[in-house]
Amino acid sequence: MLKHIVLFTVVTVLIAESVHSDILSAPADEPNRNKVNCIEKCKGRPMELSFVVDGSTSIWQTNFTFGLEFLEDFVDKFDISPSVVRVSLVTYGDIVYEGDAFGFNAYTNKDALKRAISQVPYRSGSKTNTSGGIWYMLNQQMKEARTEIPDLRRVVVVLTDGNSQEADQTKQAADDAAKAGLEVFAIGVGQNVSLWELHNIASDDSHVFVVSTYNMLENIKDRLRYKTCATCKMEPMDLSFVIDSSTSIGKGNFSVGMKFVKDFVDSFQINPHTVRVSAVTFGSRVYTEDAFNFEDHINKKALLDQLQGITWRHGMRTRTGDGIAYMRTEQMTQARPNIAHVCIVITDGESQDVDLTESEALQAQQEGILMYAVGVGKVGDQLNEKELNSIAGDPARVLTADSYGQLNLLKNELTKLTCEGTNRARAQIVQALRQ
Ligand SMILES: *[C@@H]1O[C@H](CO)[C@@H](O)[C@H](O)[C@H]1NC(C)=O
Ligand SMILES: *[C@@H]1O[C@H](CO)[C@@H](O)[C@H](O)[C@H]1NC(C)=O
Ligand SMILES: *[C@@H]1O[C@H](CO)[C@@H](O)[C@H](O)[C@H]1NC(C)=O
Repeated sequence: MLKHIVLFTVVTVLIAESVHSDILSAPADEPNRNKVNCIEKCKGRPMELSFVVDGSTSIWQTNFTFGLEFLEDFVDKFDISPSVVRVSLVTYGDIVYEGDAFGFNAYTNKDALKRAISQVPYRSGSKTNTSGGIWYMLNQQMKEARTEIPDLRRVVVVLTDGNSQEADQTKQAADDAAKAGLEVFAIGVGQNVSLWELHNIASDDSHVFVVSTYNMLENIKDRLRYKTCATCKMEPMDLSFVIDSSTSIGKGNFSVGMKFVKDFVDSFQINPHTVRVSAVTFGSRVYTEDAFNFEDHINKKALLDQLQGITWRHGMRTRTGDGIAYMRTEQMTQARPNIAHVCIVITDGESQDVDLTESEALQAQQEGILMYAVGVGKVGDQLNEKELNSIAGDPARVLTADSYGQLNLLKNELTKLTCEGTNRARAQIVQALRQ
């Protein structure tokens, strides 16, 4: 019974979450259009997509077929071809059904791929050998991933109805996949899924999906597709937020701004080896009492709690330069060497210390910090475009929204920009190290 309650809660939370983020937007249909645009843009981006599918006996033929139909629908929105999105699949039960598996090179167009997926036989395995399936994908199929494409996304979708018998091995296999840099989604179906195991399999909590029956998979299709698109396989980075907490923003809009920050970091893997975050707010001064540093959290949940703890200080001034100086001297000095150092400055207006803002930003850029400026408000009104450009050092790293309510429209663009910037920065560092 307990399991059912937990499961029900998770499904409800997932639904509530998506509804919530849709409500926050203004106008109401924007995020959906935004999501559709994102999916449209991403369908032509190269990706290796691997399906690892449970074919154990508890599933039954009908549900197995539902699962395959879900995968057929899922791939339908991508540009399936040898140069863009390629798909592999493997099923498992008591053993890995290697004879039924196919690799990235097997199907070169969407029709052939969908036909192949629909014809995968159901073997009704007496066990749930999830680790076997993941290891086969990792050691046999991923070997064929293209190496010539920079920033190639390698995404794995594990679809299962239950508990594997060897939970430790499943965790081990999932850890191996994570170490290989794969982005793994775990989809659990049914009343008997082990949430613990799904969370072990997935790259992070935002990569776990649960539905109560196979024919409800339809409900998560768009979200999974969106998530697959919105994420970028990211090199490690240390990311600092420098956030305006001046009085002009108001308490409500400040929390909308912080929600944006939380949503933004949610698209990254947060842990000591991948992405770490620090933050500081400023107004009349730097609010060091709210600041936190890279070592202060080990996972996403702890980070989100820290961001949640930052309060609006209604500073009577906008001392952006001091905020950047603090980031540069107190936070980035703690960043890991040889990875991308990224800073995002969020402000609703012109600073009072314009000269200091410009000189501190320049200093930060010269220290190799990749600077982004997010301006909230009307350019030419309270926003000074010249100042935003000088903070970022390049207009291509400046994004603006008319109001805090519209900030969420920038999320995908900012994610894409920082992800690409980070990967480029890291590639340059690696090249420099080689010389
Ligand atoms: C899982 O599958 C692999 C590959 O088919 C096999 O070698 C392994 O023994 C299986 N594990 C279990 C616990 O049955
Ligand atoms: C639920 O999973 C457990 C293993 O954790 C298993 O023993 C049990 O048979 C499963 N029940 C159903 C209905 O599949
Ligand atoms: C945010 O600021 C705008 C003015 O730019 C204001 O109309 C709106 O009510 C504020 N929203 C909240 C939630 O405080």
